[in-house]
This record gives sequence, structure tokens and C-alpha cells, in this order.
Amino acid sequence: MKQILALNAFDMNAVAAHGGALAAQLQRRASVFGAGSVLFYQRPLQFVRGRGTWLYDADGTPYLDAYNNVPSVGHCHPQVVEAAARQLSELNIHNRYLHAGIIDYAERLLGTLPSPLSNITFTCTGSESNDLALRLASKFTGGQGVIVTEAAYHGNTELVSQVSPSSHRHWNAAAHVRVVAAPLSHPEVFAAHVTAAIDDLVAHGVKLSALLIDSIFSSDGVCAEPIGFLSAAIDAVHRNEGLFIADEVQPGFGRTGAGWWGFARHDVQPDIVTMGKPMGNGYPIGAVVTRPEILKSYCEEVGYFNTFGGSPVAAAVGQAVLDVIEREDLIGNAQRVGNSLREGLINLAQRHPTLGQVRGAGLYLGVTIRSSAAGESAARATEAIINGLRERRVLIGAAGRYGDTLKLRPPLCFSSEDAAVLLNALDEVLTGLGSE
Ligand SMILES: Cc1ncc(COP(=O)(O)O)c(C=O)c1O
Repeated sequence: MKQILALNAFDMNAVAAHGGALAAQLQRRASVFGAGSVLFYQRPLQFVRGRGTWLYDADGTPYLDAYNNVPSVGHCHPQVVEAAARQLSELNIHNRYLHAGIIDYAERLLGTLPSPLSNITFTCTGSESNDLALRLASKFTGGQGVIVTEAAYHGNTELVSQVSPSSHRHWNAAAHVRVVAAPLSHPEVFAAHVTAAIDDLVAHGVKLSALLIDSIFSSDGVCAEPIGFLSAAIDAVHRNEGLFIADEVQPGFGRTGAGWWGFARHDVQPDIVTMGKPMGNGYPIGAVVTRPEILKSYCEEVGYFNTFGGSPVAAAVGQAVLDVIEREDLIGNAQRVGNSLREGLINLAQRHPTLGQVRGAGLYLGVTIRSSAAGESAARATEAIINGLRERRVLIGAAGRYGDTLKLRPPLCFSSEDAAVLLNALDEVLTGLGSE
């Protein structure tokens, strides 16, 4: 398994290969961050400004961002920036005081979700959201067992790391965790895998708590089809008194181009929904949404308070993000541009045998990279393509258990012109790699 932080990572041993100012910056950074320093690219990038789908370096050189899902309505969107600045200059306190803005935002967000999910708890990150979700599920079900996919990433707390196989260089599942194959090539057997995992937990005396799924399977390598394939797995979980936690940190807020939520595209009902990243367009906002009885059972014993979660500033930013998604029809844009980008990739794949399957929905696409040998060499080809695109000033990422999938996940305001820039650059890179 390729560890998630190893994907497209700069090799610190290569500092000496860079001269001048870049080498000096790399050294300074390494000396303060030590072993914890992770950077993208063989030639790391330094940006000073962002706007829409573009990032700019100090010389004003633009780079097309087809990677970043956090600024999902566009880098530094003026309406979001204005909302944050206005609220920051007016009032910024925690949410144990009444504030109409927070209630308005909570009601509006809940309005996008199925009605049984009527209670919301604000956090600041996806990790905090999943950490709380796991604790809610465990308290409500009285179980501990959690099922996740084999290259899942759900966050960085102790509890969440235990259900994030791709966080670990050497993964050893804890006794309460079962991993199932991601539904990449055979989604039809996903439910059978989940059922087998439930049976195995039971056989080991572990009661099921939850199936925790990112419905676009981002770190597993992106899997979105066929629509509806999740249903049977979730039915099995419910039959065994477990909960389904939908991690919407990646697919949520319109990215799949099919409504607000990734799970809804599959027409399934989660018991708990977790959110983060795109929710605040770069401002740290997260949330956990669930049914009242699930939250109540947890709060009877522990309760939850998050100092920065759900502040008036977070609510103002969150509202502005929802406004922009609606006003600019970004969900429709994700569908339209996503579909044409996907077609463009399929066309490229017909000419370049290095490109394999094109998977995904809306503006979340994964393209597997083929190589004659399995595993590492496909990962190396993937890195070569990503670095080749970087040299052509286009940013994308990698995903998948073996790091052999190109990950395309731009801000939702990505235009058809942006898609054409990306496709041309990819065509050039593949031609340069001699894939014909
Ligand atoms: C599916 C998924 N869930 C949760 C998280 C954790 O979110 P955060 O980094 O905001 O804690 C991530 C982060 O990459 C993610 O991809």
C-alpha cells in the first residue's frame, strides 16, 4: 500500500539538486518542520495568490488548479472573503451564546439533507467530524466494530487513524476494524464483502458499530458507478444493527454534480453524515449531522463542545459558500464540465494506452495509469505524469491503493476552457512519455 502522504511527495534527499533560493527555502522549512514536513512535487511550488481556478507564483505565473477541492467555489472567492471579513470585524465568539446567524446557517444546511437527519453539531475539520461520528455510533449501537475500505482516509485523530488504512506505511488493523476491497472493478460484490466483514466481526465477538464510507471513494482511487451499488451493503449494516456513516468531506457540497451529497446520488440513507473541507472554502468548518436520538444517547453521558466550531464567522462563511454554489449554479457546472472533461479523458485514453479506466462523477475524476508491471511502476508513471503537468503549470494529484490513479478534483467553478487547458497539457505529457 502506498501511504497517502507519500503520494506525489517531494523527496527531501533531493534538496541538494535544487540551487539558490529554492534550496534555501527547503532547508529552512526542513529545519523547523523536521520529519513532519511533507511537500508536493519533485520541484516544490510556492504560491502567493489565488483566484477562481488559478494559483499564481511570485512572478505572477498562473497555474491551473485541477487538484484543490477545499476552495471549492474558487480560490479567495470575493463573496466568501467579504462575509468572513465583515463577521470577523463585528463579532467572533464561540457558540454557547445565542446568535441568529448560526441558527440560520444550521437550518439552511439541514434543509439540504433528508429530514430524519435533523440535528447538527459543528466542528472545525473532517477529522473531528469523523471522530465524533464514530463515538456517536459506538454509544448508540453499543458496538465497536467499524468497516472501511482498504485505502480509506478519514482523518488524523487517534480514533480515526485506526480506520484510515492509507495513513499507515504498515497497516495492521486493530481488533475492531475490518477493511473491505474498494468497489473499483467489481462494485457488484461490495455488499458481499461488507457482509463477510460483519460476519467476521461477529465471529470474533465484536459487535458492529458502523460502516464508514466516502461515497466517491477518493483515496481508494475514485469509484462512482453504478449508481445505487451502495444500497445492498447499507441494508446489510442496518440488518446487523450497525449505522452507516457517510463521509461527505470529499463528495459533499455538490462535487459529484448530482445534488448536494454523494450518498444521495446513490439514493441511500445515512444515519450520520460528516462534512468538512469544501464547507468553508478554506475557512475551517466541519459538521456532523444525525438523527436526534443518536446525538441524544451520546450527550446523555459526554456531550460535545468545540470552541471554534460553529462560530458566527464560521456560519457567515458557510452561508456565503451556499449562496455562491446556488447563485453560480456550481452543481450544474460540476455536472456539465465534469461530463465533458470525462469524455475528453476517455478520448485521450483511446490514443494513449498509458491511460486506463476513467472513473468518477461530476468534478471528481480518477484515471488509472497502466504499466506493464503492477504496483510500483504504475505509481512511478503516475508521478511522472503529475510532475510533467506541473512543468506545464497544471496541478492534479494521485490516489489509489498503489498510487496509480490520477486524481482530478478542481474547484467547482472549473470552466470548459480550463478543461481544455488540462486535456491539452495531459496530451502533451503523455506524448512526451512516449506512450503511443
Ligand atoms: C474522505 C475524508 N474524510 C476526512 C478527511 C479529514 O479531513 P481534515 O483533513 O479536514 O481533518 C479527509 C481529508 O483528506 C478526507 O479525504
